[in-house]
Amino acid sequence: MTTNTDSESPVIVATALHKRYGRGDAFVEAISGVDLTASSEEFIAVMGTSGSGKSTLLQLLGGLERADSGSIHFEGNDICRMSDSAIVSLRRQSMGVVFQAYNLMPTLDAVDNVALPLLLAGMGRRTAVPIARACLNDVGMSHRMGSRPAQLSGGEQQRVALARALVNQPKLILADEPTGSLDRKNTHAVCELLCDVASTAGRSTIVVTHDPAVADYADRVLTLEDGQIAERMPMGQA
Ligand SMILES: Nc1ncnc2c1ncn2[C@@H]1O[C@H](COP(=O)(O)OP(=O)(O)OP(=O)(O)O)[C@@H](O)[C@H]1O
Ligand SMILES: [Mg+2]
Repeated sequence: MTTNTDSESPVIVATALHKRYGRGDAFVEAISGVDLTASSEEFIAVMGTSGSGKSTLLQLLGGLERADSGSIHFEGNDICRMSDSAIVSLRRQSMGVVFQAYNLMPTLDAVDNVALPLLLAGMGRRTAVPIARACLNDVGMSHRMGSRPAQLSGGEQQRVALARALVNQPKLILADEPTGSLDRKNTHAVCELLCDVASTAGRSTIVVTHDPAVADYADRVLTLEDGQIAERMPMGQA
């Protein structure tokens, strides 16, 4: 299963990232000189207080926000130097993103929400729908496949969002508080699932979390403080 290339080269390498919001005197230095390398099969947890820059970092890595300076090497490209449309196709093809606010399409049911990335990538409905159903089954949502987001609890929407992020077998999974609305039992279930999908050759998983129970599952925990990485702690060696 594992190829040498996949296991030896990092999946994503971010160097000297800076991101500032606002201008003049009223700016916020959200990310201030972050370096990050994520390896194949690595599950990284990003922690830090509210406002420390966690979501911003994830958005830079996913090309959803533009860095002011620095580079992000992924799949042979520097995301910081790509056009918006090229980033959109790269993300559709090779990334799975779970947003802090889920961002599900309100008019589509769970199956269609999960199938959407495949349909956008040009796959036919007949092929896409069974794959979407299988992903919903993996996150324990087989009983609510036909429900629209408004008919689902926060935790259920979060699991649909996770299924949608996994449906295209991405190289990079970026998840912002993927267990934020879940109870303890479902948090552990989603973490087990994330660990399982994270151990795929050629794939890195980066999860922002406030929850130490989620960080316990990670290979490595990065703590952000005022937009900078404060510590690197290999799990089990603290
Ligand atoms: N679009 C924006 N415009 C202006 N400032 C922003 C914007 N997005 C984030 N910020 C600011 O950048 C800083 C980092 O925000 P970010 O959302 O990355 O924090 P976070 O660590 O994800 O916080 P939380 O744990 O509350 O989700 C904060 O000071 C925030 O107010
Ligand atoms: Mg956030």
